Amino acid sequence: MSHGLQHPERRLTLPSWFSLHTLESVGSTNEEMQRLVREGAPEGTLLWALEQTKGRGRRGRGWSSPRGNLYLSLLLRPMVPPSEAAQIGFVAAVGLAETLASLLPPELRIRCKWPNDLLIDGAKVSGILPEATVASGLVEAVVLGIGVNVLSFPTETPYRATSLAAAGSKADVETLLETLAPRLLAWYRRWREEGFAPVRQRWLDLAIGLGEPIEVRLERDLLSGRFASLDASGALDLELANGTHRLITAGDVFYPAS
Ligand code: BTN
Repeated sequence: MSHGLQHPERRLTLPSWFSLHTLESVGSTNEEMQRLVREGAPEGTLLWALEQTKGRGRRGRGWSSPRGNLYLSLLLRPMVPPSEAAQIGFVAAVGLAETLASLLPPELRIRCKWPNDLLIDGAKVSGILPEATVASGLVEAVVLGIGVNVLSFPTETPYRATSLAAAGSKADVETLLETLAPRLLAWYRRWREEGFAPVRQRWLDLAIGLGEPIEVRLERDLLSGRFASLDASGALDLELANGTHRLITAGDVFYPAS
């Protein structure tokens, strides 16, 4: 690999399903993984970088990536129709939510914000960026990018951010990765075996703002309504003032009440 594989500082214990590659520094683990996808890398390939110099966020934004936080991309090859690809972001969100909850003081509630953010007391601690490649009508690869603010968080964000450390966790990146990997795998397997229903239900149990008034910023529009539900494909079901429902597949959610 062009960036030179490094050995982890300490030996990590991950389920053997994963094939871990550790990078000292990389532009973006998602970008690097796309190269491995083209080379035919197998499902379970996991790229972990100690820092990123061009970390990517949702909707063309950047992702601040100094050392001390978690940056990874996991390669999945689900071979499902493209309409099911978005479900994988929710698979990751529930696995990550359970992981973070296990590493935080019990009085803190981890919540899921549509589509795939995780919040602690309303502040963003983690973002997920799934990128799908479709060939012959099937999703032949999903590069599942996950970033978690472990030690530090950016201050110049349009939303409130936080880190595990700021929320009172002593977990380091290695402990987080070792805790996350089996949970992620368990939820991925469950999704494969049982479909989206259990993932959707778990996500709804953890969701913030369900049933409440929200605003959704789209590319060119700002919609107001009630966050009615998550539909069977992972779209946000927004109930408008006139009672009609609109399914949103991409956008940013705001909670005017909070
Ligand atoms: C978001 O905007 O909420 C998604 C952020 C995703 C960041 C992660 S960090 C590891 C992976 N590589 C990237 O360049 N981005 C994702």
